[in-house]
Amino acid sequence: MSYEFYKILHVIGVLMIFAAVGANLVIASLKDATTTFKQEIGITHGIGLFLAIIAGFGIIAKLGLAFKGWVLVKMLIWLFFGGITAIATRKPDLVKPLWFATILIGILAAYLAIYKPF
Ligand code: HEM
Repeated sequence: MSYEFYKILHVIGVLMIFAAVGANLVIASLKDATTTFKQEIGITHGIGLFLAIIAGFGIIAKLGLAFKGWVLVKMLIWLFFGGITAIATRKPDLVKPLWFATILIGILAAYLAIYKPF
């Protein structure tokens, strides 16, 4: 598979993660969210995380990149987006800050990949 293919896969995964995280944060902020399509959101979140990490390492292999600091930080970001639903469900008070953190951390992830600063 080509670099371009992995990159499109990576971005698809990232889009799925952000859609699901947004939905999960809203659900966590509601008292009664039984009418939502929670299962589909959970599946979207899981597939998105899977695609992002598999394709992320695919790109690293294709470009012959060394395992640098920015890759490590992106893996921590990946863990953050994996755990954010659990955090929001346990601590609904944190939903609003997590909403803005999601945007800022998403920007950081893009910055790290594009500039590879360290
Ligand atoms: C869920 C967290 C992540 C987000 C939000 C994210 C976001 C992005 C974005 C926006 C891009 C830029 C795509 C472009 O060039 O147009 C990108 C590229 C990339 N990401 Fe991620 N990413 C995440 C996780 C990861 C992980 C875990 C890895 C490593 C295993 C990784 C490795 C890469 C690589 C290697 C590139 C391409 C760099 C290049 O083409 O020079 N990303 N990512």
